[in-house]
This record gives sequence, C-alpha cells and structure tokens, in this order.
Amino acid sequence: MEIIHDNVHSKSIMFHDLGSGLMVQSNQHVIIRGEEAIVLDPGGHKIYTKLFAGLTPVFPISQVKYIFFSHQDPDIIAAANGWLMVTDAKAFISEIWLRFLPHFGIDSYVENRISPIPDQGMKLSLGGEDLLLIPAHFLHSSGNFMIYDTFSKILYSGDLGASLGAPYQYVEDFNDHIQYIEGFHSRYLPSSKPVQMFLNTVKDLDIEMVAPQHGAIFRGKETVHSFFNWLSTLKCGYELMGEAYNLPG
Ligand SMILES: [Fe+2]
Ligand SMILES: [Fe+2]
Repeated sequence: MEIIHDNVHSKSIMFHDLGSGLMVQSNQHVIIRGEEAIVLDPGGHKIYTKLFAGLTPVFPISQVKYIFFSHQDPDIIAAANGWLMVTDAKAFISEIWLRFLPHFGIDSYVENRISPIPDQGMKLSLGGEDLLLIPAHFLHSSGNFMIYDTFSKILYSGDLGASLGAPYQYVEDFNDHIQYIEGFHSRYLPSSKPVQMFLNTVKDLDIEMVAPQHGAIFRGKETVHSFFNWLSTLKCGYELMGEAYNLPG
C-alpha cells in the first residue's frame, strides 16, 4: 500500500502488490475524503479478499460511497458483485458496458446500484470536492473513462500510461521508462486518434500526477509533460499492422 497524496481531510491510496501467479499486475486506487470514499477499478476475486483486508484498517468498507469501473476488463470488474454486497456504494460503468457486467454474476438485489456513465462523462462529488469522469474512449476500451480529482490534481488514467515490469512505483527517468510502456501502448491502443483526442481533452487541466491502473505513477508536472509529449508522436494499434494479416499456416 502506498499513500500517493496525503492531506488533513483527504488521502489517495494505491494498492499495487495484491496480485499473484499469472495475473497481470494492477493498481487499485482508493480516494478517502472526509467521511466518504471511492474505490477505483477494484479488480478480480483474488484481489478482492486482499483489498478488503488492506482497506479495513484504513476506512470502514461498508461506508464506501462509490465504486468506479473505468471499463469492462476482468482485472477491473470481475469482483463487482462482492463489492456491491459488502457496501451500499453506487457503482459506475460506461453505459455501453453496463449490461455486460452482470455476466460476472451480479445478485438481483444489488443491480439497481449500478449506474451508467453517459458517453460524454459526468461529475461526482466526494467529500465536497468534484471528481470529473472524463471520456477517454478507445484508450483502450471503446467505453472508457478516467477520473480527474480536482482536489489532489491526480488524473487516474486507467490503462493509459500502463507499464509492465518496471521495478519502481514512481517514474524517475521518463526516457528510461519508455521500455516498460511501449509494448503495452503499441498493442493495446487501437490507433493514435483517441490518443490525440485525450491530449486535446486534458490540455487545460492542472495535472500533478498521472496514476495508471498498471505499473508506475508519473509524478510531477515535468514527468507528466514528458509522458504526454511521448504520447503525442505515438503510433499504435492497427497503424503498425499493415494492410492485412497473414493467414495462419
Ligand atoms: Fe483494460
Ligand atoms: Fe487494465
């Protein structure tokens, strides 16, 4: 567990080492503000038990106000039912994925606490401060949102900025960090168009930190700037795949 932002009435916490076995490393972010808390991308079943245990001494789980699912991947939503059962929280997921979520098994009496995020995004209030649920479709999921916390100025970027295998929690040297992000971004992102849209969307936001759902955090304006700069020239997805695939054989 790592406290990534700390203030008298607000804490931003990252759990980053709850996975096991073949499971892709993932971060579970929690924002606690006043008497309220939101859990971001809580992960699958094995993470659920550990996150529950890790969070209990810090915040009463039954009082979690919101659960946010940036998109529909199993490393995000697989334990949705468990979280809805042990809290009275409202859960949010893209309107285009809402009816896919129950395939992971959602008990009918908690279903009414799942709310759709409209394509254009929305705002939530946590401890009296705004959280912006910003559209970031196709990065990589076709119904995908990020959260910008107006209080801590952290952008929770979901899979954008994901790194795999970096042996640290904070990026110190961006150029050296490229080796850990380029594989993921070139294959999981479909094309550079949604990346450009993202950069245009957040250009006026005051961002102190970019906290992805996998791997290391980009801390400080300079590192965030280097990351955005790298994104601005990125070619990815089908742009790297030519005009047709070779048939197997
Ligand atoms: Fe994903
Ligand atoms: Fe992910």
